Order: sequence, then structure tokens, then C-alpha cells
Amino acid sequence: MKLAENLYYVGVNDRHKTLFENMLPLPHGVSYNSYLLVDHKVALIDTVEAPFAEQQLETIQRILNGRLVDYLIVNHMEPDHSSGIQALRMLYPQVQIVGNAKTLSMLQGFYGIADGLYEVKEGSELVLGKRTLRFYMTPMVHWPEVMMAYDVDNHILFSADAFGCFGTLDAGILDTQLNLDMYWNEMYRYYANIVGKYGSPVQTALKKICTLQLNMICSTHGPVWTEHLSEALSLYDRMSRYEGEEGVVVVYGSMYGHTEQMAQAVARGAGEVCKNVLLYDISKTDSSVIVGDIFRYKGLILGSPTYCNDLFPPIKSLVDKLELRGLKHRVFGAFGSYTWAGAAVKAFVAFAERMKWETPPTVEVKQAMTSDQSEALVQLGRTIASQL
Ligand code: FEO
Repeated sequence: MKLAENLYYVGVNDRHKTLFENMLPLPHGVSYNSYLLVDHKVALIDTVEAPFAEQQLETIQRILNGRLVDYLIVNHMEPDHSSGIQALRMLYPQVQIVGNAKTLSMLQGFYGIADGLYEVKEGSELVLGKRTLRFYMTPMVHWPEVMMAYDVDNHILFSADAFGCFGTLDAGILDTQLNLDMYWNEMYRYYANIVGKYGSPVQTALKKICTLQLNMICSTHGPVWTEHLSEALSLYDRMSRYEGEEGVVVVYGSMYGHTEQMAQAVARGAGEVCKNVLLYDISKTDSSVIVGDIFRYKGLILGSPTYCNDLFPPIKSLVDKLELRGLKHRVFGAFGSYTWAGAAVKAFVAFAERMKWETPPTVEVKQAMTSDQSEALVQLGRTIASQL
């Protein structure tokens, strides 16, 4: 697929993998995007995951019709983009591999590649002919070696994982060719689960990007952004500042339904104030979806029974995921239940303290809730929703 003059999409769709990073479900698959610039020199920007290397190389050979690849630009070394490098080098042994000092060290560590390397730094330029690529270092978006390549003549940014999302590219490659609803949802999930911890480095990268004129953003996953690139930029800006949208996410765990009833009361209360209320049973919905929505919305209310003098294990695991990612600025409330000794509410209060959030309003119920407690739970929902 030709994206612009002498710029071709040479990525692939992975519809086989069930779990990204062996953790995150892929109901809509994932694309590994790669781009070929054909100028006086030929440059390939990133490869694809190794099982798809042959497919990618066939496409490249068809486009080049006997010409060789002169440069491989490695914007990101995570193996979903770099494990095709060895196959590329076998076909094009003369290729110069372009990366920064950290990239080159990882090439040695992962693949034993120590020659044919071309080191670039912040602001370095590589002239391909009519096109010049300029490099910007964007560490921790989402690994330390990540950089972006900017086509200064055509205002195209090759952004590595940034602005990427899950979902295969079925009907087209450009945002203008696709119904974007699924991709936006998957961008929230992708951002929160993969990049979520690195809000500050994302902000640093955005400050560099916002100085550039942009006609097109070519990420390593998901659609190529053209008409909708400002929406992708603002989603990243919002998420990396941990600035939640107006809405409340209520998540509960429940073994026999008592905590579920509490959650229902909380959601009803929140719904009196805010129409955007999402209620999740942690045992039913994959936590990556829940983490995505918790990053997206400002209000969070968690509920759990006491289990072995602690939180219900799936809720404890969710709390760990939020802590690991350093989620900030949430309006937080909590509720818990117990049969003989309460620990869940105490654990939520300790969690809020560790996250440096305000001490949450809480409701605790022993065994089944009373009508007074039901009203207190409705009020908890109202309280959180009214603070958004
Ligand atoms: Fe798509 Fe961080 O790799």
C-alpha cells in the first residue's frame, strides 16, 4: 500500500496471537507496522515479529524489484518490531542498521549483531535523496532506546509505539479508510496497560513533537494518522497527564453476591449525578479493559470482600496493576464486606495512601447489608460523582 510519494506500508496483521506480551487479550488482533521509503537510498523503518518476516520480505522485494535495502531504521527494539531483523540481514547483508547507542547495545544483546551499525543522536539527520530523516530521542515511550524519525520534507513522523493501538488493519491503513470506534477504544487500553507508567516521558516526547509540522503519524501499531492525528495527540496528552475524563468506574469482586449488591447501590448513586458510570465484575471482565477505563475516567470506586485478611485476590491484583503504573489524580471511594473480621476497607485506605490520593470515603458491611447501609452506599456513589 502506497501512503505517499515513495512511501509504502509494509507491515503485517497478526490474527493468531491471543495474548499481547503474553498477558493482554487481543480480541481484534494487532498489526505490526513497518514502512519503506524508496528514494536515492532505500530505508526500512522497523521490521515485524519474526513469524511474519518472510511475508514482509516478500512485500519489500516486490516493491523494490531488485533494489536493495540500504538502511534499517530501528525506532524500537521490543521484539514485536525487532525480531524480524535477522531475516532482513540474511536477505540484505549489506544493510546499515540505524539506531542510537542504547539500540545498538540491545542489537548486540538480543541478536549478537555488532557490525553494519550506524549510530544517530538527538537531532541527527540521514539524507536519503529527496527526503531527509531527522531523529528525536523519546526514551521510555515505551523502552529506553525508543526514538522517532521525522521526514522533514514531507512532515511525516514515524513514532514507534506512540499513538499505536491494538486491532488489525482490515479495511485499510489510513485513519480515513477505517471506522475508528474500535481503534480509539483499543488506544485507551493499549496506552494504559503498556505505556501508562511512563506519563512523564510521554509528556517530554510530546513537547518535542508539538514543535513539528505534521501531515501524517506512522505508528508501529494501528492506523496511520492523517485527518485524526490531532485527536491521537490530544488523547496521549490527556492520558499522560493522568487527566481523567468525566466518568466513574466502579469495580467489585464478589463470591456470593453481597458485594455485588453493594456495587449496584454505589453505581446507582453515582448515576444520579453522572451518566457515564461503568460497573465491572473483576471476575468477568479482563483486567486490561478495566485498567484502560480507570486510566480514562477520573472517578474510581473499588469494592471487595475480605479474603484471608486481605482483599479478594483478583481485586488485589487490579490494585497492584494500578500501583505498578503509578496512576495519579483519581477521585477515589471504596467499599468492603466481611463475615467475621474486616480487612478490605483498611487495605483500600492503605492503597490510597500509597498512591498519594486523598483518604477515600468508605462503607463497610458485615455479612449482608442493611437498608441504612444501602443508602450509605448510594451516597458514596453520589459523593464521588459530584467531585469530578
Ligand atoms: Fe510494539 Fe513496545 O512494542
